[in-house]
Amino acid sequence: MSQFGTEFCDHIAIVRFEDNAWQTPAVEPLAPLPMHPAAHVFHYASTCFEGFKAYRWDDGKARIFRLHDHIARMQRSATSLCMPVPDADMLASMVVELVARQIDDIPTPPSSLYLRPTLIGTLPNIGAAASPSTEATLFVLASPVGNYFSSKAATLKLLVEEQRARTTEQLGSTKTGGNYAAALGPTLDAREKYGADQVLFCPNDDVQETGAANFLLISDDEIITKALDSTFLHGMTRDSILKLAADLGYTVNERKFTVSELLESVKTHEAVLSGTAACLSPVGALVYRGEEIMVCDGKPGPNTQKLSKALQDIQCGLAPDTHGWLTEV
Ligand SMILES: Cc1ncc(COP(=O)(O)O)c(C=O)c1O
Repeated sequence: MSQFGTEFCDHIAIVRFEDNAWQTPAVEPLAPLPMHPAAHVFHYASTCFEGFKAYRWDDGKARIFRLHDHIARMQRSATSLCMPVPDADMLASMVVELVARQIDDIPTPPSSLYLRPTLIGTLPNIGAAASPSTEATLFVLASPVGNYFSSKAATLKLLVEEQRARTTEQLGSTKTGGNYAAALGPTLDAREKYGADQVLFCPNDDVQETGAANFLLISDDEIITKALDSTFLHGMTRDSILKLAADLGYTVNERKFTVSELLESVKTHEAVLSGTAACLSPVGALVYRGEEIMVCDGKPGPNTQKLSKALQDIQCGLAPDTHGWLTEV
């Protein structure tokens, strides 16, 4: 299968916000979007998006993972950017219709169909730096994606970044393009200087997350991860893993922790990144002030594998969906 995010289904779902209302959504052939060069998004970055997956089971039907929670997060992103907020039922129907149409394009599990709702401000007004876009387009792209789980057998190396932040405190939990642009410079520097795969942002001695994934510490009996606040993205994978961990008897510690606690913890705790694309990706080493520090024995740990499997089994229909996370199509 081609590289994640580079292959697309031949239709999108799309709807416009005009005259103060969402118009009628449609499923249309995938094609370039005609856009005015003065569109608000190009100049003032009025944009947010979501990312989640649909899996095709043996019964030929698809299951979308945490559809309604992702839609709720998109509504929060749109609200924080003063953009027209997508109606939840409208967006859910757009996604379901698109998945139904492209069901034959969904590869077999653990491969899946990645869904990418995207909202952009289209008001043609370069004078609107300090006013919201009153016109918008919402579209859903669908992309067949391969299995990250087995290809990620190797562990990641993270640079512990103590000075620079991933984004601003105000927009940390908003899924907006500018956050990724902001994290890019530090991430490329870390790659070039230390051969690090990602940056673990820890501004003000607060261990937060990487450019596109949450960060968790896992031992045989507990999980530690930062408690929800506005500085980082509230990942659905993080939330799902915490709930499954609690079901399996782990103690879940959502709390602030410092860099020195992190360095102490990785002697006994596995470290992982969590996100829709990669599920759980084990971390093998940290680079701290130029020195490389191994996480446990540097290999993927048993607790990571156990929790990863618990999540994957629900997504692929091998375990019951006890939390009601799946939407059948
Ligand atoms: C900044 C950031 N943090 C965390 C995550 C993980 O979130 P989720 O588990 O909902 O995919 C993502 C990916 O969407 C992300 O972009």
